[in-house]
Amino acid sequence: MQFKQIILTGDRPTGPLHLGHYVGSLANRIALQGKYPQYIMLADVQALTDNYDRPEVVRHNIFEVALDYLAVGIDPKLSTIFIQSQIPEIAELTVFFLNLVTIGRLQRNPTVKTEIKQKNFGESIPAGFFVYPVSQAADIMIMKSTIVPVGADQLPMIEQTNEIVRSFNRIYNCTVFPEAQALVPKAGSARLSGTDGQHKMSKTLGNAIFLSDDIDSLRKKVMSMYTDPLHLKVTDPGNLEGNTVFEYLDLFGTNPAEINELKAHYQRGGLGDVKVKQYLFEQLNQFLEPIRTRRLALAQDPAHVWQILKTGTDQAREIAANTMQEVRAAMHLDYY
Ligand code: TRP
Repeated sequence: MQFKQIILTGDRPTGPLHLGHYVGSLANRIALQGKYPQYIMLADVQALTDNYDRPEVVRHNIFEVALDYLAVGIDPKLSTIFIQSQIPEIAELTVFFLNLVTIGRLQRNPTVKTEIKQKNFGESIPAGFFVYPVSQAADIMIMKSTIVPVGADQLPMIEQTNEIVRSFNRIYNCTVFPEAQALVPKAGSARLSGTDGQHKMSKTLGNAIFLSDDIDSLRKKVMSMYTDPLHLKVTDPGNLEGNTVFEYLDLFGTNPAEINELKAHYQRGGLGDVKVKQYLFEQLNQFLEPIRTRRLALAQDPAHVWQILKTGTDQAREIAANTMQEVRAAMHLDYY
């Protein structure tokens, strides 16, 4: 059975997107749009698995993340943006997929394990949260996606999705679903450090530079970034290893020759952190300024943004309905 190449990815709308999202998956999505059909999902149902008591946060961020997508260059003519909760077929498929997964297997999912620790659930893990990998498999398979551009932390999700796919096709003796392939960013940009240089960039850790940051916040964040803690005097030789400022320059700098010169000078000694940070600030601002401008313009016209989401969701739902017909037929649930 030949499947068409179809891309699906998504984000939990729990906060605005940051540079970590950009290098982790947005850049890949922008590069791929137009090459294959691409679906980008606002995973509000998944966001609710650990924010069920704060639905207004999720609602607010649906709009914010949609603005981020459009501002950063996701083009609704090339990519279909849709809202997970508005496709009930995903929930239906999740229920059928749940039969194909054991509790033990879910307990071994490394991403879920880490998150359970991080979120301090203790013994009180919400069941919905615990099974979200199954719902994520349904997200991916409702569109029969074959390519999933995600950060490396999502690899266990794709692995589990493919186990479910193999079980489904085998048990129901069909070829309804394709296997999906994760597309992770090239090594080095896989996990962008936060401005603290200690952890990966994350909204909750307070070390993030957001796509929507204004110029003053950007300047403040860059100027207080982690560098080489042993580079005390300007004349001291500096270390590039683990130096967040240079990590960002490698990813967002536009002039490799200039950056190489800065690196050499820094290692030799005689180049102060403030100067390098000023340079990084300018480079980052060059990248973020057009995004910021587009975002502000889009925010002026919320009706237009909601219309894009509604159109995308209607398109996705049509495909979801077709997939569910095949699923019901394969499972002999097509009674009349
Ligand atoms: N779990 C993903 C995250 O936390 C978001 C997500 C939900 C997703 N459904 C998806 C990603 C389907 C890829 C495919 O970032």
